[in-house]
Amino acid sequence: MTNQTQKNIAILRSKLVELFQGEKTGHSIDHLERVLAYALKICEREGGNEKVIAVASYAHDVHRIIGSNLGRFCTPVESLPMVKELIEPLNLTTEEKEHVLYAIEHHEEYAFGKEKISITDIESKIVQDADNLDAIGAIAIVRAFRYGSSNNMPDYDPAIEFYQNEYSESVNDKSTLHHLYNKSLRLGEYLHTQTAKQIAKPKTQLIKDFIDVYLKEFNCDF
Ligand SMILES: [Fe+2]
Ligand SMILES: [Fe+2]
Repeated sequence: MTNQTQKNIAILRSKLVELFQGEKTGHSIDHLERVLAYALKICEREGGNEKVIAVASYAHDVHRIIGSNLGRFCTPVESLPMVKELIEPLNLTTEEKEHVLYAIEHHEEYAFGKEKISITDIESKIVQDADNLDAIGAIAIVRAFRYGSSNNMPDYDPAIEFYQNEYSESVNDKSTLHHLYNKSLRLGEYLHTQTAKQIAKPKTQLIKDFIDVYLKEFNCDF
């Protein structure tokens, strides 16, 4: 990380730690720290503007806090005025600030989703890959159940067949296990960068194994 990026992140951290205090839906400050770390690792190997990638990945989920406060799903675009204020004091050019807002606006578009992917720039792709890497793997399973319980979703409903449908973050899946099957299992195939695809492989296998073992235990098939 360059000195400039370190300074920008330190300024943002003090504000985000306060803003995300008490967040219990799986989008807490530790999610932001991991997404930042994934993003910097991918950027190191794949290139792109590090200043933009670091700030956008770290501040990408402000929409979740606004949503928690409003008691409804809030889209990333609705968070842009607040993000604009947060990044205002950072050492970024006007173009870089616009770029950060653009990457955040589009971070929840999925190839298998309702909101089709429109990004073509490496910075937005890396931010999206980094966020998606935290939705696959061991911590992703914990986050999924945390999100499910805070949204009154059952852990699993055997009456509903597994599906892989046109995904949207604004619509909750039928259960947390259905969510893992519908989203986490598929994400790895749709990542943009080779670096992220590599990191995703063992994480995707873990999700597969988790679903298999869960179903066996659920069905008392020991
Ligand atoms: Fe998000
Ligand atoms: Fe996120």
